[in-house]
Amino acid sequence: MAEWLELLIPERRIRARVMALGRQIGAEYSGKKLSLVVVLKGACIFAADLMRQIEIPFTIDFITAASYGEGTRSSGTVALSGLDRLDLAGRDVLVIEDILDTGRTSAALRDGLQQHGSATFALCTLLRKPAAAALDLPVAYVGFDIRDDFVVGYGMDYAERYRNLPGIHRLVFEAGEGGAGKQKPPPKRG
Ligand code: IMP
Ligand code: MG
Repeated sequence: MAEWLELLIPERRIRARVMALGRQIGAEYSGKKLSLVVVLKGACIFAADLMRQIEIPFTIDFITAASYGEGTRSSGTVALSGLDRLDLAGRDVLVIEDILDTGRTSAALRDGLQQHGSATFALCTLLRKPAAAALDLPVAYVGFDIRDDFVVGYGMDYAERYRNLPGIHRLVFEAGEGGAGKQKPPPKRG
C-alpha cells in the first residue's frame, strides 16, 4: 500500500503558535507553582520548544502513555508509566500532550494524577481532533484544531517513523488498484 505525506502545518506556523502558547502559559501561571508533565513520546519535540518560551520557573516531569489501537482508533486500554515516581503535591500541573484524539489518554492521565494531590490540573495539547473537542476534559491550551486525519511529524509518528519532520503532515494511504481507495493507517501509538 502506497503512502505519502501532505503538508498540513508548516514549521513557521508551528513556531509562531508555540511561542504564543508559551507566553500565554507564562502569563497565566505567573505566581503559581507550575509543573509540566510531558507525555512521551509524541510530545517530546513540542515540549522542548514550548518550555523555552515559558519565562517563569517550573518543574518538568516525563511520563509515558501508550494506547494500543486497532485501525485508527485507540483501543481504550491506556498504559501509563512513570506516574508513581511523580511528586506533584500542591503543584499546578499542566500536562503537555501531542494530540488529543479520543481523549482516552488524557482522561486516564487526569484520573492517574488525581491521587497526587496537585493544586490544579489542566491540559495543553499541540493538536486536537474533533472527537476530543466534544469531551469534558480540562483542556486549557490548544495549538491547532485539526480534522480527523492521521498526522505525523514534529514528534508524532506512524510506526515510529516521521517524528523528525519539522512540519506536521497528513499521512495518506492509497490501497492498490481495485482496493478500497484511500484508507487510514493503523497507527502504533505512543
Ligand atoms: P487518544 O487517547 O485517542 O486521545 O490518543 C492520544 C494518543 O494517540 C496521542 O497522544 C498520540 O500518541 C496518538 N495519536 C492519536 N492520533 C494520532 C495521529 O494522528 N498521529 C499520531 N499519533 C496519534
Ligand atoms: Mg502520544
